[in-house]
Amino acid sequence: MFLDLIVGARPNFMKIAPIIREIERRGDQGNTIKYRLVHTGQHYDRNMSGSFFEELGIPEPHVNLNIGSGTQAEQTSGIMTGYEKLLMQQKPDLCIVVGDVTSTMACAIAAKKLLVKVAHVEGGIRSDDMTMPEEINRIVTDSITDYFFTTSETANANLRRNGVSNDRIFFVGNTMIDTLLFARNRFRKPSLWDELDLKDRNYIVLTLHRPNNVDDPVNLRWLLDEIINSSKGLPIIFPVHPRTRKIINSFSESLSSTVSMADPLGYLEFNYLVERSLAVITDSGGITEETTVMGVPCMTLRDSTERPETVTMGTNELLGTNPDAIAPAMQKLLSDQWKKGSIPPLWDGHTSERIIEIISKLSL
Ligand code: UD1
Repeated sequence: MFLDLIVGARPNFMKIAPIIREIERRGDQGNTIKYRLVHTGQHYDRNMSGSFFEELGIPEPHVNLNIGSGTQAEQTSGIMTGYEKLLMQQKPDLCIVVGDVTSTMACAIAAKKLLVKVAHVEGGIRSDDMTMPEEINRIVTDSITDYFFTTSETANANLRRNGVSNDRIFFVGNTMIDTLLFARNRFRKPSLWDELDLKDRNYIVLTLHRPNNVDDPVNLRWLLDEIINSSKGLPIIFPVHPRTRKIINSFSESLSSTVSMADPLGYLEFNYLVERSLAVITDSGGITEETTVMGVPCMTLRDSTERPETVTMGTNELLGTNPDAIAPAMQKLLSDQWKKGSIPPLWDGHTSERIIEIISKLSL
């Protein structure tokens, strides 16, 4: 059996790493699943891409489409064209896409049009927010996916509601959590820990990159000021996504010194910080899953989430995008009233084993 594994942007790397590890492990036992790792090049900086390959032990991609930055349509069309050429040289038995980034959707379309079956890891989740490119990517990808590997019962229900039959839905858990649990005892103290004299549970981690939080400088400034003013002098560690960096540069000089901005951190250093923090404030989806498993309070600056179990079971709360919601939430945190949360079913570190076991039995 020959698989294409697609990665493109930062959140893909932790989802694919344990799948590759499982294929390699089975290979050592004489099983013959072969794969081609295709990097679209959507993320290309060392700290958005290369460092994850090294830290998570992902092999060099067999192919890099080097697509780089661009508008949504430019990236989509470039990835489709590049991947289609590759497919015409050699078609896999199955194309595996993960998550919800532009690379996920573009490669799924290119594969399906050349009659290659598609499996979607993290299929079926929905935010119902069509202003997010990721939601469009999810809906389009799932509309042409053959096999769905899901992280939650909510995802299963969404798929069934869309007419997907049960024999194509496999509730397996969360490969991102496979990576988290595998890497947890290797988390690495970043140099800023000593530079800033950080102490356990005595600082906040902040990440922001969604267009509706960061693209307008006035709104971004308001958000940051609310976070600073309500956190009562606690250090705020802010690894800044390149998209956000471009906007923040216009006013970063005048921000309070309780905010420490850094370049995006590697996986092991970032999660070292998260695990020891008092709380995380974010607009990411994946981080809400990681904080849930590590039991760290998480405030999400979005109006909706495609990962509702992080709220109903985990430590996450949706604050919305109005910065006025930050102060009351911070009050709750600082008075030790935050919920403790529990870990969703099958987020147990063994998801990739289940996925590869199922794939090995598919008649492709
Ligand atoms: C993408 C994903 C998002 C994911 C996020 C994580 C889509 C639609 N969005 O958003 O789901 O949560 O990645 O990071 O696929 N840039 C660099 N260096 C890089 C990559 C990007 O400087 O290595 C710059 C680009 O030039 C661009 C900005 O960052 O100006 C945004 O990059 P882009 O890939 O368009 O989307 P993200 O906002 O990163």
